Amino acid sequence: MSVLSLEENTSLRPPDAEPRLRKVWQELEEGLLSVSAHASPKYFYDAVGSVLFEAICELPEYYPTRTEAEIFTRHLSEMAHVIGTGATLIDMGAGNCAKAARLFPQLHPEQYVPIDISVDHLHESVTRLQQRFPHIEMTALGMDFSTQWHLPDEVRSEKRLFFYPGSSIGNFDQEHALGFLRQLRAACEGDGDGNADGGILIGVDLIKDSALLDAAYDDALGVTAAFNLNMLRHINRVLGSDFDVRQWQHLAFFNTKLARIEMHLQARSDLTVHWPGAERRFAKGERIHTENSYKYTVPRFLHLLEQAGFGRTRYWSDPSNWFAVIYAQAI
Ligand code: AVI
Repeated sequence: MSVLSLEENTSLRPPDAEPRLRKVWQELEEGLLSVSAHASPKYFYDAVGSVLFEAICELPEYYPTRTEAEIFTRHLSEMAHVIGTGATLIDMGAGNCAKAARLFPQLHPEQYVPIDISVDHLHESVTRLQQRFPHIEMTALGMDFSTQWHLPDEVRSEKRLFFYPGSSIGNFDQEHALGFLRQLRAACEGDGDGNADGGILIGVDLIKDSALLDAAYDDALGVTAAFNLNMLRHINRVLGSDFDVRQWQHLAFFNTKLARIEMHLQARSDLTVHWPGAERRFAKGERIHTENSYKYTVPRFLHLLEQAGFGRTRYWSDPSNWFAVIYAQAI
């Protein structure tokens, strides 16, 4: 097993810090000072936020995780038949590697490459997994793949299968989703010889009744509300700001026109937030836009894959057509 970190640690950052950290600060500040204030969903995932997200995945209202798992349970042997064995399985956003590990007994990958923003998160899970599957070569990568990236030479170029479950693609807008898929398509040609034998196995959340979608992002227990509000505590640490979580309210709804769930934080009263060098007033009811989660129809997503250079698609869904797992080959 090898562990490679292609990222430096991005923890704390004063405004006069090195350029990359200053950029993080500026991006956050710009978002908060915009007329329509917004902040990147990456600020959900501090230690508390990551635990809250795991809890969300267990909620009865949050159907994507269990529906996707059911699709894999039901159709994995057919998927393995279609995809074939011996792949270089590249797990984008692997976390605890549990989803990919469920594929191993049928897909028999030659090499497993879990990628996550923090290699520390991966270390323990990959060590455990390597003990269970000693014959699979494992190369853990710490890498931020939300912008430009490339895979190191340690990743085999043959039969690359990019695994992107959980409908995380929905958190990109259309332009970024296409850009991301194009990068995956390019990385299917590991050695750049134009002969791609790779593909993608991706989970996609489908458009459905608004009430179901609204409930999935505004659950009765208030776990998603806590997940959203916790972002303010994370921002306070990054920016040195004084957001008071109690002054804000979670808001989530399906925007039918744009086919996306929107999450916002809404000010409960007129208030001012300060941080070194700046402040922002919010009127009662004013919002900070924190996340979009786009929902697709299968034809719409297949079209996106086609635009990115993938074809020969197969997909599997649940009986209610709430979620789809799609396999597409680089063409
Ligand atoms: C990570 N991502 C796929 C989740 C989603 O459904 O868009 C994030 C999430 N936000 C609120 N609940 C879950």
